[in-house]
Amino acid sequence: MSAPHAGERAGVSDGVTVRRLGSSEAANCVPALADVLIDCVEGGASVSFMLPMTMDKATRFWQTVADGVARGERALLVAEAGDGRIIGTVQLLLALPENQPHRANVAKMLVLRRARGRGVAQRLMHAVEQAARDEGRTLLVLDTVTNSVADRLYTRAGWQRVGEIPDYALMPDGAYCATTVFYKSLAGSEHAPSRR
Ligand SMILES: CC(C)(COP(=O)(O)OP(=O)(O)OC[C@H]1O[C@@H](n2cnc3c(N)ncnc32)[C@H](O)[C@@H]1OP(=O)(O)O)[C@@H](O)C(=O)NCCC(=O)NCCS
Repeated sequence: MSAPHAGERAGVSDGVTVRRLGSSEAANCVPALADVLIDCVEGGASVSFMLPMTMDKATRFWQTVADGVARGERALLVAEAGDGRIIGTVQLLLALPENQPHRANVAKMLVLRRARGRGVAQRLMHAVEQAARDEGRTLLVLDTVTNSVADRLYTRAGWQRVGEIPDYALMPDGAYCATTVFYKSLAGSEHAPSRR
C-alpha cells in the first residue's frame, strides 16, 4: 500500500476544500465528523444508524474510523468550508481479502444538510476516486438507498448500476429501504497504475 497522503489537497472551489486526512488529523476531527453524522441521521439518512442518534454512538464510530486510518485500512476525506469547518466526508475502505488487492469500497458519503445542493458530494466523489488511484485500486464498489439523492449522484459520476436489493436496511425511523449496488472501473482511466 502506498504511503498516506496526509493533508493532501484534492480540490478547491467556491471556498470549499476537499482533502485527505492523515491519522492524527483524523483523530482530532472526531467531534466535527460526529456532528456531520448526527446531522445526516437526524435528517433521515440510512447510513447504519437508527434514531435516536447520540454523540456517544457517533464518537465511537469515528474513533473506529480514525483507528482504521492509522492502520492504513481506510482513507478518510473531508470537505471543509472556507472557515475550516468540516461540511462533508467520504471514506475509501482498503482492507479487503488478499485476492482483491485491486478493489476498494466507497462508504459514508455525508454532507451537512445546510451545505447540500452545491456540488460538495460531487467533489468528494472525484477526490475519493483519485485517492483510490493513488492507492493502486482500479475497481470501486458501493451501495446506497435506491432512488435517493446519492443514487443520482453516483449515476452522474459514471458509476454502473448492478442491481437493487429490496428491504436491505432500515431508515433511521425503522422503515425498510431498498439498496442499489454500484461499481466503477478505474482501469484504463487517467493515472490508473497498471498491474500487468
Ligand atoms: C447524498 C449527499 C451526500 C449529496 O450531497 P450534496 O453535496 O448535496 O450533493 P451535490 O450537491 O453534489 O448534488 C446534490 C444535488 O445538487 C445539485 N447541485 C450540485 N451543485 C449544484 C449547484 N451549484 N447549484 C444547484 N444545484 C446543484 C446536483 O445536481 C444534485 O441534484 P439532484 O439531487 O437533483 O441530482 C447528501 O444528500 C447527504 O449527505 N445525504 C445523507 C447521507 C447519505 O444518504 N449519503 C449517501 C450514503 S451512500
